[in-house]
Amino acid sequence: MKRIITITSVLLLLSGCSWGQNDHTISKDKNESIQTNNKTPEKKVEGNLLLESKYFNHIKDVNGQKLIENNSNILALVNKTYSIGNYIPKDLIRPKVKFSFGDQDIEKSYMRKEAADALEKMFQKASADGIELYASSGYRSYKRQKEVLNAEIANVGKEKAVQAVAIPGQSEHQTGLAMDITSKSVNFLLTESFEKQKEGIWLREHAHEYGFILRYPKGKEKITGYEYEPWHFRYVGKKVATIIYKNNWTLEEYFKHVKKA
Ligand code: DAL
Ligand code: ZN
Repeated sequence: MKRIITITSVLLLLSGCSWGQNDHTISKDKNESIQTNNKTPEKKVEGNLLLESKYFNHIKDVNGQKLIENNSNILALVNKTYSIGNYIPKDLIRPKVKFSFGDQDIEKSYMRKEAADALEKMFQKASADGIELYASSGYRSYKRQKEVLNAEIANVGKEKAVQAVAIPGQSEHQTGLAMDITSKSVNFLLTESFEKQKEGIWLREHAHEYGFILRYPKGKEKITGYEYEPWHFRYVGKKVATIIYKNNWTLEEYFKHVKKA
């Protein structure tokens, strides 16, 4: 009996159970390459993911703070550890999509060009599928992030506020690569119930096809440092987004697995 159990365990391990997390998991087979259709220069070689050095954070220590020097990097890992200081993107544009606040030309309607173009394509396809998405909050300056955080602290206190809102310099919104997305079905709010609406489900399943990832997933709060946000999508390019989606990773986990080419 003991022998049968031991053999079964070995077979289960060999079949890849320790690696597999879900149906999307990428095989570690040496000969398998990831079939995606985009320009981010990553390839899977001998079971490893390789990425050019310029896509990793280049960090400078400033008064104990880890400052990202290559702050315009499309794959910048901005979180509670790595800050972009007072960086302002140079190529912000206003995507031609519907906004929850109408046609007002305000800071939060902007994104960096590459992300804005991808957002437009994603919203167009969603609409063709009968899904009406509304952009709610994109670029946020350092100054605006400070105001958002202070308002949250006034509402719920500091301890809770920092689980939901980044301190200035540490928000992906400041990169111009993130957009909070909502729908009429949730009264244009940013709320957890968005995950159950057809718009939230569509985004979860299709955002990677346009280069976006669900940046703060449920169950990964300890890794990302933030509460689950089914509305917050971050542009990383189609190839990386697809790898992250298929492996059920966060951006932090992606950078743990990927190696410098
Ligand atoms: N809500 C996200 C974490 C931000 O403030 O950037
Ligand atoms: Zn957000």
